[in-house]
Amino acid sequence: MSVTDSTTMSELVARAKAITERELAIYTERTKGSQVATERARKVLPAGVPSSFQAYDPHPIVVKHASGSRMIDVDDNEYVDYDMGFGALFAGHMHPAVRKAVEEQLDEGTLYVTPCELDAEVAELLGDRYGFPMWRPTNSGTEATMDAIRLARGVTKREKLVKVEGGYHGHHDEVMVSNKPALADAGPADAPFSVPQSAGITQGTIDDVIVIPYNDAPALERVLANRDVACFIVEPVMENIGICLPEPGYLEAVREICTKYGTLLIFDEVKTGITAGLGGATTVLGVRPDLITLAKSIGGGFPVGAFGGKAEYMELIATGEVLHLGTYNGNPLVMAATKATLTEACTADAIEAAIALNTRLVQACQKIIDDSGIPAHTVQFGAKGCITWSIDPVRNYRDYKATDFDLAFAQWMHGINRGILLPPGLDEQWLISVMHSEADAMRYADVFAEFVAELTA
Ligand SMILES: Cc1ncc(COP(=O)(O)O)c(C=O)c1O
Repeated sequence: MSVTDSTTMSELVARAKAITERELAIYTERTKGSQVATERARKVLPAGVPSSFQAYDPHPIVVKHASGSRMIDVDDNEYVDYDMGFGALFAGHMHPAVRKAVEEQLDEGTLYVTPCELDAEVAELLGDRYGFPMWRPTNSGTEATMDAIRLARGVTKREKLVKVEGGYHGHHDEVMVSNKPALADAGPADAPFSVPQSAGITQGTIDDVIVIPYNDAPALERVLANRDVACFIVEPVMENIGICLPEPGYLEAVREICTKYGTLLIFDEVKTGITAGLGGATTVLGVRPDLITLAKSIGGGFPVGAFGGKAEYMELIATGEVLHLGTYNGNPLVMAATKATLTEACTADAIEAAIALNTRLVQACQKIIDDSGIPAHTVQFGAKGCITWSIDPVRNYRDYKATDFDLAFAQWMHGINRGILLPPGLDEQWLISVMHSEADAMRYADVFAEFVAELTA
């Protein structure tokens, strides 16, 4: 059944829009301090935010405090945080072990720009988890993917790169192509156009980027056949269109095709890296890329990234053939936070417990869906989950675009007024951190049940 027997899809959408309208009015009323703060910020920061992802209408909540799994805004509204910094805070807000490590490091200095022992300690820890011998730290996921792509080009002496439609890999020019293209511009589903996501990207850059659908191994083979592609960069599980899982055999086929045509396979594990399970999606799914990029949750809330890979490739950085630079790379404060995250906060046991808790939450939400017959389903990968507003699974960006955004937005608005903080873009997912209690995690399901009851009443 696609919708409840007595209710048509158009009725559900009409109800969703009515809920959205009511909830928007409530939101405006209960977040007046955020409105004032945003109006001030708009005078000095474009859109009033430090990163355009943070902007939404009528104004974002402006936060004054976060700890554990909770955040408090400037109006003193409290939220259970399921966004967790777009998934960066698997350790929770200011995990005690991370805090202690950072406080101790403050006494030793914050920036040396000459090596410290923590650099190698963190690289060893990443090596243990992800099975690659050599690593370099960066300051963000964007830097990690930018540097990994340059390294792939240096290794292969080729210029083109392939990415999937709907895939996000940071904000450097060559990956800001077809992140969320309008369907009118996107071309055929099986051979999408390369659509720049921003003004300011040169035609030369766009021409170097080939876009293919996710979960389509023949499409990859077609574009690699000329043997002029340096790398295929892909999230093993797409986590920028809800959660989009690889179909059985897809990643294995991708691995084989990349090897066949001499193209380096880069797994962008910036989002999956630590939240998928120990050793990331690479280990959980059992397919090994040539290079891997990490960021977000490995830093326990501090700005870090890393890329690593096979020694024969990383060796080009050692010889200086490929340059990798950065004043803040490996800064001791962030390395101390990363080490504490990997060794004390997000241990194997803590990860397992968070994933088990997430499974209980996902099952509770799926039961609500099954009992009501609404056109939705849950998806889980590790400690992350989402509700996707369609009956059929999402296999790629075009499927994602066919999900119902009116229902998704109404749920988001309904949730935020009840202390459920989710990422604003509807294209993300929730994260259960190692600091979410059972009650905190399950609050999501309780509020979702309320929403569904109203939607289907
Ligand atoms: C898969 C993926 N790669 C790279 C990035 C870029 O990371 P950062 O925002 O740290 O630059 C993101 C950010 O959301 C991401 O989701």
